[in-house]
Amino acid sequence: MDTHELAVLKLLIVGVLVSTWMMRGLSATDSFNIEPTPPRPSKACNESRLHWEVEVCGEEFKRDMEHIDPQYRCNLTHFISEYNIFTLCTETKSLSVNCYWPNPLVERYIIHIHKHFFSNCTLEREEWKDPSDGKLMTLILVPIVLTLAMVALVVWCSKRSDILA
Ligand SMILES: *[C@@H]1O[C@H](CO)[C@@H](O)[C@H](O)[C@H]1NC(C)=O
Ligand SMILES: *[C@@H]1O[C@H](CO)[C@@H](O)[C@H](O)[C@H]1NC(C)=O
Ligand SMILES: *[C@@H]1O[C@H](CO)[C@@H](O)[C@H](O)[C@H]1NC(C)=O
Repeated sequence: MDTHELAVLKLLIVGVLVSTWMMRGLSATDSFNIEPTPPRPSKACNESRLHWEVEVCGEEFKRDMEHIDPQYRCNLTHFISEYNIFTLCTETKSLSVNCYWPNPLVERYIIHIHKHFFSNCTLEREEWKDPSDGKLMTLILVPIVLTLAMVALVVWCSKRSDILA
């Protein structure tokens, strides 16, 4: 991995981190209105289960990537949505086994996935070297928009169940 790829990788990770912070912020303010507050992970994080669960995300990502025409597998425009599904999957699985997200195990796994899928992307150097502002905004905004959509859905569902209850 050269420095440009590393920079893009860091940007992706920052993107998902920012969206997580926004999600935490939103659920914190929202809990003033909705009672009772959602339960925090109470059991200990089971790392061996987490490892197994994120492998499942990796398998799904592999399947999704196989559906992309090989000539476009290094093209951000084509794999960004699969990539976001993958990171959201690691988040969902982490929470489902009582682990916080992001966490070091998941970060290591994401880097492993990067090395596996994008190590051959050297020909598309230009793509990585100088991503246009539009592409950078996509990188940063897509996880945020997806997360906001999920938050909105969760809030809507909990409000709805309040009304129904
Ligand atoms: C963690 O999960 C694995 C697999 O489900 C299970 O065998 C193990 O007992 C669990 N460990 C703890 C500490 O709960
Ligand atoms: C990536 O895909 C987009 C949309 O199909 C296309 O416009 C662009 O030229 C592609 N970039 C490269 C480097 O192939
Ligand atoms: C990368 O290239 C090597 C050698 O051409 C090939 O064996 C490997 O399957 C490729 N990896 C991916 C993810 O396409």
